[in-house]
Formats: sequence, structure tokens, C-alpha cells
Amino acid sequence: MKKIVYMSHSEDQTISFAKKIGRSLKKGDGLALMGDFGSGKTTFVKGLALGLGLGKKGYVCSPSFVILKIYRARVPIYHFDLYRLNNSRDFFDIGFGEFVAADGVTVIEWAEKMKPFLPKNTLMIHFKIAGLKTRRLCLSCRETRHEKLFKKLKSLRRHELFNV
Ligand SMILES: Nc1ncnc2c1ncn2[C@@H]1O[C@H](COP(=O)(O)OP(=O)(O)OP(=O)(O)O)[C@@H](O)[C@H]1O
Ligand SMILES: [Mg+2]
Repeated sequence: MKKIVYMSHSEDQTISFAKKIGRSLKKGDGLALMGDFGSGKTTFVKGLALGLGLGKKGYVCSPSFVILKIYRARVPIYHFDLYRLNNSRDFFDIGFGEFVAADGVTVIEWAEKMKPFLPKNTLMIHFKIAGLKTRRLCLSCRETRHEKLFKKLKSLRRHELFNV
């Protein structure tokens, strides 16, 4: 399993890092975001959407009350928030299967709620609050789909990551 750890020291750094990832994503990619309340998952999706060409930073917000939001970026972004979901069965009942393999990028907040069902090539990101403004992001993937992205992120120097 490939793994990469990124320490973010501000909201902007999380957005920049996610933007970098967003630029590399393609149709059919899936991201599972896991971790505590306020650890930066929605902030990350903001950056991801920017990298996917959405353009407006304020456009992305937590879909907690609707479970799914769709943004029309370079490819459609399906932004799920499973916080309110009772069990993983519900997830399939709302039509998840129609999105994952489809025409866009799927990003799921509170993905731990359906962990056993995540496709093997999902890019998983565990968020941890490590300080007032410090967040630890641990990226991993069980399959090789994101190998190129991991290589790219590893080769980036800090200043390159932050000046995007
Ligand atoms: N390094 C950082 N990266 C991201 N957010 C940060 C950072 N430092 C502080 N913050 C703050 O932490 C909060 C993160 O909120 P956000 O909504 O992104 O979290 P979340 O993981 O989506 O929470 P929830 O579980 O409620 O959906 C924001 O208020 C943001 O300003
Ligand atoms: Mg959120």
C-alpha cells in the first residue's frame, strides 16, 4: 500500500495541497475522506474543486443536509457527506453505485461509514487535528491507480506545494 503524510499548518495550505491533487484527477476517481469533526475535510474539497477547474472558492460547502452535492467542474464532482447516514445500506439505497464508476470524480466525507464497501482503488485520506491550525493528512491507496499522483506529491518541495 502506498502512503504519504502531509502536515498542513493553515486552511490555505490544505486548500493548496488539495488543489494540486484535483489537477491530477480524472473521470472515475474516488476519494474517501475520514477523520474528526473540523479536521478539514470540507476545506480539502474546496481545494480539490479548484484544482478540477470549478473556479469559485466559496461554491463548495458541506452537503450535510442533502448528503450529495454535484459541482460542474472540468468533470462533474459528486460530493457526498455521510455523517447523517445510519448505515452503509442506506448509501446504496440513495444510488451511490450510479456515481462511483461514472463520468466524474467522487469525494466522500465521513467515508468510514461505508469503509468495507469502498472500491480498492479509492484514494483514502485520514485527517487528524494535530494542533489549533495543524492538520495531519495521511493518503493511502490499496491499488496502483494513484501511483503517478503519489510520485508527483513526493517529488514536490514544500514551497512548490504551497505556491499553487
Ligand atoms: N490546517 C488546516 N486545514 C484545514 N482547516 C483548518 C486548518 N487549520 C484550521 N482549520 C479550520 O478548521 C475547520 C475545518 O472545517 P471543515 O468544515 O473543513 O472540517 P470537516 O472535517 O469537514 O468537518 P465536519 O466533520 O464537521 O464535516 C475550519 O474552521 C478551518 O478554518
Ligand atoms: Mg465537512
